[in-house]
Amino acid sequence: MSTIELQPVKGTRDFYPEDLRARTWLFAQWREVARQFGYEEYDVCVLEHVDLYIRKAGDEITSQLYEFKDKGDRHVALRPEMTPSLARLVLAKGAAMALPLRWFSLPQCFRYEQAQKGRKREHYQWNMDIIGLPGVAGEAELMAAQVAFLRRTGLNLEPGTPDIVWKVSNRQVIQFFLEGLGITGETFAAVCVVIDKRDKIGNEATVIELGKLGVGIEAADKIIDLLNTTGLEQAAAKVPADNPGLIALKELLALAEAAGFAHLIKIDLSVIRGLSYYTGTVWEVFDATGAMPRAIAGGGRYDKLMETFGGQPTPMVGFGFGDVVILEILSERGLLPTFSRGIDDVVFPMGPPEFAVATRVATFLRTQGRAVTVDYSGKRFKAVIERAEKDGAKRLLILGSNEVRDGVCVVRTLGGTERKEEKVPLKDLGVG
Ligand code: HAM
Repeated sequence: MSTIELQPVKGTRDFYPEDLRARTWLFAQWREVARQFGYEEYDVCVLEHVDLYIRKAGDEITSQLYEFKDKGDRHVALRPEMTPSLARLVLAKGAAMALPLRWFSLPQCFRYEQAQKGRKREHYQWNMDIIGLPGVAGEAELMAAQVAFLRRTGLNLEPGTPDIVWKVSNRQVIQFFLEGLGITGETFAAVCVVIDKRDKIGNEATVIELGKLGVGIEAADKIIDLLNTTGLEQAAAKVPADNPGLIALKELLALAEAAGFAHLIKIDLSVIRGLSYYTGTVWEVFDATGAMPRAIAGGGRYDKLMETFGGQPTPMVGFGFGDVVILEILSERGLLPTFSRGIDDVVFPMGPPEFAVATRVATFLRTQGRAVTVDYSGKRFKAVIERAEKDGAKRLLILGSNEVRDGVCVVRTLGGTERKEEKVPLKDLGVG
């Protein structure tokens, strides 16, 4: 029996090499799409000042923090999301940076959540953000990047019955409505946090929670009713034509049309987002079949966050796209590529006297850009071949005492049906 706990900490994951290959592949896709859209990668430490996440509106994320005092009595937290760190970076450099900035990152984030399908206590997030660009061209560009990534994975995003849907709203639409009910300022942000939880807690509990914020039952019922609004026409019927949120939604649809993904957008006022800093467009990306209830990705415009941190007004918009849900979806649909170890050659010295020459051959092959391992196991030939084939190697280079004496190496092709074997002079393999 082992004396240590062998399972990872609850809600966190181990990545054995075969698991890490999928993550590395996913990150490569995200990086490639970000590159195609001209975004630059940034990073910060996972350990942050806790103050970045303390918000008056009562965001759920604040109650899910992994937080502690360090030995210098600093109150710190493992970041639950990247957006506040991004705002801190931008604020720290101030006017030195030429806006707009297009930045992306792949942070690991920690939230003390109830672990369930699609949700863990640690996850990686692809973040793409634009800093310093007002107007929905930013939103359209970011959604286009999400579309580009999901298309690359082989999911169907064509008109008809696409696999994925973008549920989009604008907080200014709902803000207009709530202002009419006398809900403004900080209470508005707090109300958004509550109604975002409606799916999870149900209508009744939502009304009770709203009551705690001073929203009467009649007003709460009206709010819940408003959340059933879908489609641009229905939304337009709820607010005046000059409502900035409505105008922004119209403009966004026009840009999405131009970019060829308007068919993927569903205007849906029930999308609020649980983070209180959003001020305009908000969106969440879902599996269209509904089989995966948790959002694949979420984003929005947060034009006031910099001011909250004491900076200049700076328009910002972006999204976070987690690794957990998308890997589950791709795996369930058989869309994950098969990953091999990527080894080109295995060099097999048949005994210790051949170790030195095998090392020289491997060193030479690596200078040629090939991925090479040396099998020092001394196992039987059959076992060596099986292992090399399992590792996906393309060639086995056999070095017995006779070969070395004759100045040759037996090179055998692996995999495939036709097995080829030839003797290659050692001098052609960097020896002698
Ligand atoms: P969020 O909606 O809290 O937004 O998270 C974004 C995405 O991260 C989710 O849609 C999901 O894919 C993933 N995610 C979040 N929590 C978990 C979890 N416990 N387990 C697995 N995956 C999870 C934000 O974090 C914003 N900061 C995004 C943003 C960037 N807004 C503007 N810029």
